[in-house]
Amino acid sequence: MGSRVWLITGASGGLGQALVGEVLSSGERVIAVTRDDEPLQPLTAAFPGCLRTVSVDITDAGALRPALDDAIAGFSCLDIVVNNAGYARAGPFEELDDTELRAQFEVNFFAAVNVLRAALPHLRAARAGRVLQISSLAGQIGAPGMSAYTAGKHALEGLSVSLAAELTPLGIRTTIVEPGAARTGFRTDWASRLPSSAALPDYLPVHEALARSAGAVGDQVGDPARMARALVALADMPSPPLRLPLGSDALAGIENARNGQLEELRRFADLSASTDHTKVN
Ligand SMILES: NC(=O)c1ccc[n+]([C@@H]2O[C@H](COP(=O)([O-])OP(=O)(O)OC[C@H]3O[C@@H](n4cnc5c(N)ncnc54)[C@H](OP(=O)(O)O)[C@@H]3O)[C@@H](O)[C@H]2O)c1
Repeated sequence: MGSRVWLITGASGGLGQALVGEVLSSGERVIAVTRDDEPLQPLTAAFPGCLRTVSVDITDAGALRPALDDAIAGFSCLDIVVNNAGYARAGPFEELDDTELRAQFEVNFFAAVNVLRAALPHLRAARAGRVLQISSLAGQIGAPGMSAYTAGKHALEGLSVSLAAELTPLGIRTTIVEPGAARTGFRTDWASRLPSSAALPDYLPVHEALARSAGAVGDQVGDPARMARALVALADMPSPPLRLPLGSDALAGIENARNGQLEELRRFADLSASTDHTKVN
């Protein structure tokens, strides 16, 4: 495999930073998109000429496009796009205002859209490439207190399934990556924004469940370094899957959800099929 060029968002920490390190160690090059390139400076020094950092707000499409065009031109190519940046705004739906919901979509959905709009012309011109969309177990299931986050990840998955069908004939393969809980700053970050009390007392049990989950820092089964290795392996596969859960918790959660959905589909199949027009022979 030659020295491909990866574009990775959310590169300053967690899974994104681990992936930048893993890709560079495997002899490939990276355009790291980040709000803060300081944590990447040791990697810039360790892999001279192989890492370009782009410090830009990924929700600002107008600023992102020229910055990415410049970075891609600097390496003269682009092979793999990883939409990784994301955060969670936790809380019961009725206690979240529209500004918080829209902000969640700006980062977890529309920023990925902005990156795709900048990157896809390069991949299409090459009739090759990979798109890795970092979704979540939350892109497949719902959970109390996580409506904003699950909505954004479901939206990203919906976009990606249709996009994959459009891009495959053009030689570009798309995989939706669904991590379970990973030991990064992600959980501490959303926990830091939890309100100290329930605005609506009816949702006290949701707040209590969120507080328990927030307190379980260090219990996450997922190792970001191993996840990064899995992503590099994924990018080497000639026939990658459309979806790849990462972590035993993601595997079990998605399997349970799918089994439940199938069981319900079958249980109500007669009612579902009863709405067809009567066949006239
Ligand atoms: N950790 C988990 O348990 C878990 C589970 C399932 C899915 N995921 C998903 O995995 C991806 C990586 O998360 P992680 O675990 O590595 O979390 P993390 O350590 O918090 O890193 C997320 C990165 O996303 C970027 N980001 C966060 N908030 C942002 C904002 N408001 N605007 C723009 N960029 C923002 C930041 O990158 P920059 O500072 O470089 O811009 C940040 O370093 C995310 O999409 C997350 O939803 C995580």
